[in-house]
Amino acid sequence: MAKTACTVPTTQIILDEEIYPRSSVYPKRISMFAENMRDGFKIDPVEVQIHPEYDDKYRILDGAHRWHAYKEIGATEISVLIIALDGLDPLIYAAKKAIGPLQLTEDEAGTTARRAYENNPRLISFEIGQLDLKIFRMNRLEISQKRIAKRLGQARETIRNHLAKMPELANQPKANLSRGFTVAQVAEKHGWTEPLVWSIALEGKNDLDRFKALNWGLRTWDMWNWNDCDKRFGDDWPGRIPAQMIAHILYYFSDQNDLVFDPMAGGGVVVDTCLAFNRKCWSFDMDDRPDTRPEIEPCFWDITNLKWPIKGKTKPDLIIFDPPYFKKQSNNYDPDGISGMSKANYLKFLESFFALVHLNAKKSIQMAFINADWRDFQNTPAKNETRVNSILINDYLWILNQSGWQKTHIFQAPLSSERFKANVVSAMQKKKIIGVTSRYVIISKIITH
Ligand SMILES: C[S@@+](CC[C@H](N)C(=O)[O-])C[C@H]1O[C@@H](n2cnc3c(N)ncnc32)[C@H](O)[C@@H]1O
Repeated sequence: MAKTACTVPTTQIILDEEIYPRSSVYPKRISMFAENMRDGFKIDPVEVQIHPEYDDKYRILDGAHRWHAYKEIGATEISVLIIALDGLDPLIYAAKKAIGPLQLTEDEAGTTARRAYENNPRLISFEIGQLDLKIFRMNRLEISQKRIAKRLGQARETIRNHLAKMPELANQPKANLSRGFTVAQVAEKHGWTEPLVWSIALEGKNDLDRFKALNWGLRTWDMWNWNDCDKRFGDDWPGRIPAQMIAHILYYFSDQNDLVFDPMAGGGVVVDTCLAFNRKCWSFDMDDRPDTRPEIEPCFWDITNLKWPIKGKTKPDLIIFDPPYFKKQSNNYDPDGISGMSKANYLKFLESFFALVHLNAKKSIQMAFINADWRDFQNTPAKNETRVNSILINDYLWILNQSGWQKTHIFQAPLSSERFKANVVSAMQKKKIIGVTSRYVIISKIITH
C-alpha cells in the first residue's frame, strides 16, 4: 500500500460521510488536539486518499478530529499521508484505523460492517444453510458422522454429502477477516457464532498468541480470578463460568487437537473455548437445545444406571467437569438433576461418576473438577455453623481419592463478591455470617500403582 507524505491546503480536504465510520465527531477531542497544536506538539499526519470524483480533493481516512483542530487554530495547510488503497474498501480501512484511545462504539462497528457489506456486493456471501453450519461446527469438534446424523435427524449419507462442502464454507468468512473485518462483524454477517469465527481467525496460532488475540492475560500462579465472564463465549446460563478459566485449564493441562469431555455443559462455555483454542470437544447436558446448541448432546446422568454415553475407541484427554455446586442455583436447574438430590445422594453420585470416568478413560487422562464449599450459613453466625449440612472441598478430595483419583493441583478461582448488595453484606456482618465466594479447580490424575 503506497503512502506519500506531503502538505496540502486545508480547503482541499473533505470529510466524506460515506467512508466515515463514526456517528459524529467529539468536540472535546478536537479542542485537545487544537491545544496541543498551539503548544507546538508534533501531530501525526492526517491519512487521506485522492477523492474518487474530484481530482483536486482528498477525503479523510483517518484523522477527522485532527483536521477539525487544524481548522480551529486557523491553519491553512495540513500535513497528510496520501494512501493508495489498492482496491481495499476505504470504509473498512477507516474503521480499522479507529483504534487507540477512541475506539468505535459497538453500534458504530456494527453499522460500519453493514454499510461495507452493502457497498461491496462481492463481500455478500451466498446464504449458508443452518444445517451446513451445524454440521461444520460439530465436525470441527470431532463429533462422529454417526452422532451428527443422529443429533440432527438426518441420514448419514446426507451428512457425508454436506461434509464434502465443508472446506469451502470457511472461505468467505476467512476472506472477510483478511479484509479487516472484526470477528464480531464476520459472525454477524454470516450468522456464525463468534467462537466459530475465532476458530478460523486463530488457525495456525499457538496458545499464547490465542490468549493475546482474545485480550486475556495469562495467569502464572495458582490464584485465578476474573471480574467477569467474557460474554463472547458461552450462553447466559445459571452458574456460568468464565471462558478465561477454561482457557487456563486448556493451556496448562492439554495440547492443541486434544479431545476434551464436558459431561454437564450448561451454557457451552467449554465447547466455545475449545473452538477458540483448537481443541476437540464432546459435551453433554440433560438440558436439550438442538437448535442453538446441537453440539451439546442430550444426556441424563442417571445415578441408578450410570453409563458412558459414547461407544468406540476414541477416548478423551481431559475432562472438564463443572456440576451444580450442590444446592447453589438449584432453583434455576431441572429438579431431576443432581442439584435436586440430598447431600448423601449428591456425594454418592459424584463418587459413582468419578469411578465411571476412571473405568472408561485412558490412563493418562486428567480431570478438572470445579466446585465450591457449600455451607449452610443462611442466618447462621459463623461460630454456630456445624458440619451436618456442609460439603467442603476436603469432602470432594476424599471422594476423588476413594474412586481412584489423585489431586495434582488445586487452583483458587473465586466467584466475584461484587454481586452482593450492600444491605445484604451489612446484615451478614451484623449477624457475623461468613459468606462463600470460594471456588476451586481441582486437577486430578488416575492413581496408578
Ligand atoms: C454449573 S452448570 C454448568 C455450567 C457451565 N459450565 C457454564 O458455564 O455454562 C451444571 C449443569 O449440569 C446439568 N446437570 C445437572 N444434573 C445433571 C444430570 N444428572 N445429567 C446431566 N446434566 C445434569 C445442569 O442442567 C446444568 O446445566
